Amino acid sequence: MNVILMGLPGAGKGTQAERIVDEFGIPHISTGDMFRAAIREETAMGLQAKSFMDQGLLVPDEVVIGIVKERLAKPDCERGFLLDGFPRTLAQAEALDATLAELGRGIDHVINIDVDRSILLERLTGRRICKSCGATYHVVFNPPAQEGICDKCGGELYQRSDDNEETVATRLDVNIEQSAPLLKYYAEKGLLRNINGQQDINVVFADLASLLRGQAE
Ligand code: AP5
Ligand code: MG
Repeated sequence: MNVILMGLPGAGKGTQAERIVDEFGIPHISTGDMFRAAIREETAMGLQAKSFMDQGLLVPDEVVIGIVKERLAKPDCERGFLLDGFPRTLAQAEALDATLAELGRGIDHVINIDVDRSILLERLTGRRICKSCGATYHVVFNPPAQEGICDKCGGELYQRSDDNEETVATRLDVNIEQSAPLLKYYAEKGLLRNINGQQDINVVFADLASLLRGQAE
């Protein structure tokens, strides 16, 4: 099962990916998470990515494509994968097609979680993430049982440095512009499915799971 999860910043890609991983057992490949790990480890690639991420801009295609190619070649991707936040440009989509063709594989599902821009600012500025296990919460929409503490592992929750109002506005503008041709690309291939991301997190997951199981159109 080779899946691409699309959606604007805050649409719920990471939130749903956690559940898809639990239910379907495929690895979650989030380019944003990979960059944040590289920043923590202070690698050269992390430093390069940080300057773009802090401004809400996209990291250059050649950097992103390189790390995804490496990741897809790992053995845990043989049974399938869930791409979150990649591809984000047409050049990335074309590079992904070429990489998968080399591996004798293709994309099975492209699912776009559709949410209006107007509600994404509140979702992003209220997001909190566990430092230890990466679980995602929201101070209002999905709060942990105990403020600041992860329900799953007891880790400390933090706020992403790009989840401030100014950077969020740039991220939304950039992603709205870049996603239009990508959505068209996958629609023309007959792969794109849209789901309504403005529902309860559990309802969004139920819709996603039935698409992945092939039970819904
Ligand atoms: P990335 O980490 O991918 O960030 P993003 O695309 O901006 O998306 P987010 O992670 O912010 O949102 P999400 O959809 O995962 O939402 P979540 O589930 O957390 O990328 C960061 C940066 O890295 C980019 O800006 C760029 O610089 C760089 N980058 C990454 N990939 C790249 C690429 N391919 N090319 C170039 N550059 C790249 O949910 C958000 C909040 O809403 C949470 O608090 C959650 O609890 C809440 N929530 C979720 N679902 C619901 C719901 N149904 N109802 C109510 N609240 C909800
Ligand atoms: Mg995410």
